Amino acid sequence: MDPVSSAAQALAGCRRILAFTGAGISTESGIPDFRGPEGLWTKVDPEEFTYSRYLESSETRRTSWRMRAESRVFEAEPNPAHRAIVDLWGIGRLLACITQNIDGLHQRAGLPDEAVIELHGNARETVCIACGDRQATASVIERVVSGESDPTCRDCGGILKAAVVFFGEAMPREELMRAALATSEADAVLAVGSTLSVFPAASFPIEVVEGGHPMVIVNRGPTELDDLATVIVDGAAGEILPMLVAELAGRLLPRRRRRTK
Ligand code: APR
Repeated sequence: MDPVSSAAQALAGCRRILAFTGAGISTESGIPDFRGPEGLWTKVDPEEFTYSRYLESSETRRTSWRMRAESRVFEAEPNPAHRAIVDLWGIGRLLACITQNIDGLHQRAGLPDEAVIELHGNARETVCIACGDRQATASVIERVVSGESDPTCRDCGGILKAAVVFFGEAMPREELMRAALATSEADAVLAVGSTLSVFPAASFPIEVVEGGHPMVIVNRGPTELDDLATVIVDGAAGEILPMLVAELAGRLLPRRRRRTK
């Protein structure tokens, strides 16, 4: 049986599937991942971007704002993989989508806010470290593009930081609690486009498996949790997920006509 059909079979009886997504689900939207062959961490040192470095070094903040101003996150569009997860929600089989991504593409594809758990925050908002004031990142990027290389809070002069979780920074409590609740209610986990190598995020798929439920991994290349997977489908999420969800929805895609000799 081909891997997509095996994955559909593994999830066939599941009605509360927890999607767990990483940067690999957004590469087909033009956003690079971190640890893939062209990943961000193959170009810059992640040690440069820890929370403490960001607070203590204006140079780190300037680099971070420049990269954010140059990034294409805000122009990116959802791809067929994001839309397939919305379809899974539409047929009532998706419990929630825990994402490590900060690009907001699950919501842009049509998932309602209550279905998305952004463990690592989101890049749409910027917070003042000192007074907590929140504003749209787009307006701060306008200041960066106009020459303010390390913009500060207009209310209190404090350091501004996109509302994304840096290494060494506490994860958002509300999102952690929502993720724990979803993990306790899920009857399967569908992990897509993640090396499943960063904790505590990767502890959520592990907990679903430890609860005796199946895990399907859709990923290009190996992940840290392959040995826990019921089925692994190695390849592009944008091709695989639409086929998988169509099979789950019972709408078998017309098989490619078999060539008869
Ligand atoms: N389809 C399927 N898999 C893909 C695709 C694709 N189109 N493109 C890339 N991949 C795979 C890569 O081969 C890689 O195995 O997705 C995986 C992405 O893994 P990472 O780059 O490690 O991203 P992620 O798992 O989301 O990282 C977790 O680490 O740096 C931190 O905070 C950052 O949220 C991030 C966290």
